[in-house]
Amino acid sequence: MISRLKETITPEGLFWPRSALYSRIASVMEPAYRHIARQLALPPNVKTVLDIGGGDGRLAVALAKQYPHLSMIVTADISKDMTDRARKRAEKSGLGSRITSDVSDVHNLGYGDSYFDAIVSFGSMHHWRDPVTALRELDRILKPQGILTVMDGFDKPSFKIIKTTVSGFGGSIWTSIAYWVGSHQVLRYSEIAQIVEGSGIGYISILCLGPIVIVGGTKD
Ligand SMILES: C[S@@+](CC[C@H](N)C(=O)[O-])C[C@H]1O[C@@H](n2cnc3c(N)ncnc32)[C@H](O)[C@@H]1O
Repeated sequence: MISRLKETITPEGLFWPRSALYSRIASVMEPAYRHIARQLALPPNVKTVLDIGGGDGRLAVALAKQYPHLSMIVTADISKDMTDRARKRAEKSGLGSRITSDVSDVHNLGYGDSYFDAIVSFGSMHHWRDPVTALRELDRILKPQGILTVMDGFDKPSFKIIKTTVSGFGGSIWTSIAYWVGSHQVLRYSEIAQIVEGSGIGYISILCLGPIVIVGGTKD
């Protein structure tokens, strides 16, 4: 099973020129980021959020706009090019004082223990070299009562399933195509279950919503 996992996971990080291509494709995913931000329903006591594998910062900007009570949103990504893009996007959106961007590897993050009120991630877990270690690292930097929400695709969803989900939140056919293209290297449900169990983190569970799997929970 582990060797199959290694075969499935894509090489770590989106570096130039793939980062530039991804960023172009992600522009048609804007409705998805706004939808995800709304669905996260972050309560007023959440002030600090980490978006791990935050890419070019679209979810971070959507979070800042959706939740004025967030004082600090950090996008962290192993790719410097993605991180630079996220920083520029935040500044261009006038959100540079609330959004910061770090080059960081999910397997070894430079933040202290119990640092963030919430941690989110979208479309990144299938890139992680060692998702068990990564989840434990996210658990380490999450405060008690903090919220962990790692979202990704799973089981190579059919285009029909993607289109139904995407049109449900107002995304266009181009949003569906972009999602479909991006969901080619995702993990299987059984692999995700193995990762969650292997992490030993008791408060996280797996929820499947259409083509998206959510690994997360509220820390005890
Ligand atoms: C498919 S992109 C998703 C980007 C962004 N979350 C979005 O939804 O647009 C996956 C991102 O995860 C990042 N990534 C991959 N491995 C990582 C790691 N070990 N640590 C941090 N980020 C990583 C990649 O560089 C890339 O920006």
